[in-house]
Amino acid sequence: MTHTATITLTVNGQRLTRTAGAHLTLLRWLRDLAGVTDPKYGCGEGVCGACAVLLDGEPVSACLVLAAQVDGAEVTTAAGLSGPGGIPGPLQEAFHACHAAQCGFCTPGMLVTAAALLADGRIRSRAEIRAGLHGNLCRCTGYGPIVDAVEAAQEARQARPDPRDHLGRAPAGHDAPRPRPAAGPERGR
Ligand code: FES
Ligand code: FES
Repeated sequence: MTHTATITLTVNGQRLTRTAGAHLTLLRWLRDLAGVTDPKYGCGEGVCGACAVLLDGEPVSACLVLAAQVDGAEVTTAAGLSGPGGIPGPLQEAFHACHAAQCGFCTPGMLVTAAALLADGRIRSRAEIRAGLHGNLCRCTGYGPIVDAVEAAQEARQARPDPRDHLGRAPAGHDAPRPRPAAGPERGR
């Protein structure tokens, strides 16, 4: 006998309800039932970070979470880091400016993990940024531009405080500035 569950999640601000097998992972629920395809299936074992999403603000590997376990939760994917009207959020802009969107498969998870890392507003060293991204693997290029981007995003926010939060949301009625971070000086791999 197959058990099913009706699961409602708020994904990037949109309330979605789908019925799924009780065993279905959050990643499969998002991708196969809800059509939210920016979290990617990489390893399926919680190792690569390609499926990272924010679950009630905390980063998780969506391949390791059962959708039925998190009924009612708020999920943010990389697409949810955009601002109103889909304009790139500060972190997305930094990734673009620093050429940190490499193969594309890993970038959504990298963005989500970086957003969680920057959420507290603390300035981190490059070593701390690297440590914070340790669960997001890249096999194509290296981590230098990605660390550059996260470093640039946090420096831009410090230099010109942005009223948008780390998810790129501006206060209602506020025409938020859009920082243009410069690439960091170090480009180690
Ligand atoms: S697919 Fe989830 S961590 Fe790799
Ligand atoms: S960014 Fe995906 S393998 Fe390098």
